[in-house]
Amino acid sequence: MMNSVVTLKTKRSEKHVEVRVGEPILFAGLRAGLDLPYECCSGTCGTCQASPVDAEAIEPLWPEAPGGGLLPDGEGRILMCQSAIRNTTELKLFGRLREITDDTTTPDYTSASLSSQCPLNDDVIAFDLALDHPTRFKAGQFVLLQVPGLAGWRAYSMTSCCGDGGSIRLSFVIKKLDGGSFSDWLFTSNRVGERVRVFGPVGRACLQPKSDGNIIAIAGGSGIAGIMSVIDDAITQGHLNQKQGQIFFGVRNRQAMFFEEELAELVVRANRNLAVTVAFSDEIPDSSDIRGMSLIFGNVHEVAKTALQDTPPSLETAVFVAGPAPMVEGAQTMLRECGLSDAQIRYDKFN
Ligand SMILES: Cc1cc2nc3c(=O)[nH]c(=O)nc-3n(C[C@H](O)[C@H](O)[C@H](O)COP(=O)(O)OP(=O)(O)OC[C@H]3O[C@@H](n4cnc5c(N)ncnc54)[C@H](O)[C@@H]3O)c2cc1C
Ligand code: FES
Repeated sequence: MMNSVVTLKTKRSEKHVEVRVGEPILFAGLRAGLDLPYECCSGTCGTCQASPVDAEAIEPLWPEAPGGGLLPDGEGRILMCQSAIRNTTELKLFGRLREITDDTTTPDYTSASLSSQCPLNDDVIAFDLALDHPTRFKAGQFVLLQVPGLAGWRAYSMTSCCGDGGSIRLSFVIKKLDGGSFSDWLFTSNRVGERVRVFGPVGRACLQPKSDGNIIAIAGGSGIAGIMSVIDDAITQGHLNQKQGQIFFGVRNRQAMFFEEELAELVVRANRNLAVTVAFSDEIPDSSDIRGMSLIFGNVHEVAKTALQDTPPSLETAVFVAGPAPMVEGAQTMLRECGLSDAQIRYDKFN
């Protein structure tokens, strides 16, 4: 079957993009080097909405996608990350449409083998992918993964950083979602050697070393993934030689805690310029058990709020927030109340 062309239009701009058969329109546009509106790339946030000129030309990939519920009623809008096209057609966009001109890697498809899989506790697994081709990504970015037999793509943030020459290994950490398909796939079998399709890198929750000042990172559960990468990069690039970093990591209890050694290592590498606070929402453990970090009882965004009230952030402070949607939304509200602008708050909402 032949590829088709979609014309993406805003009031000011128009771009023609070749879309493969069955390919999400968003992925085709990103592959073409366009800067398009998106957040999750996986059907939950509603950001990638567009209005088709001919609804018949659109092939819904996941009609039940929760992001569809966020679209205005009766306007026939679609999610570009959950729609392919049947034939050449046109879409009206509501967000940005321009070519990417910075040094961001243009996302594309590649394949990988799952090269290691290591349980960190009952509900959390760290795994690595060995890519067929090296890729360059920015700390804080994520990729979409697809495994045989599972519908759609899943978003996962890299915990690792990328060297100048690109990286052949991507590291991840995943928290089990009961009844979740990818969770079941990974938590019920040893998947080392299995082939995985990868699309990326994508995501904008990245460090901007030239303009960013101090860094505050607020993570819930596996939201710590991209934050490990951002802080690792900030240390490697020397950003934390001059600036201060603070990580607030929210977990339920001692059993749910992971990355203790990795966080402690970041603290040592940052040479006193990084502080880690673990917020326990259900039960706080004996403090002698976990060294080098402050342990506080409470929800992570409330714990972070108390710290921000003690030491107010400046206009250059960059804040990274990642984790389950309610936690991220709570943190966003709190940060705005503390006087931070949306431009200072970079986030990944896991759903
Ligand atoms: C930007 C971002 C980064 C993330 N990073 C991480 C991370 O580092 N670690 C982590 O543990 N989690 C992360 N997540 C959450 C992760 O993507 C999954 O939602 C989570 O692992 C549960 O997946 P599941 O397959 O087990 O659950 P499921 O409930 O089966 O699926 C969850 C998600 O998969 C997609 N999906 C499900 N069914 C379909 C379908 N039929 N067609 C198309 N898509 C479908 C949807 O996005 C859905 O929300 C991230 C999410 C986002 C948006
Ligand atoms: S980017 Fe398409 S729904 Fe989130």
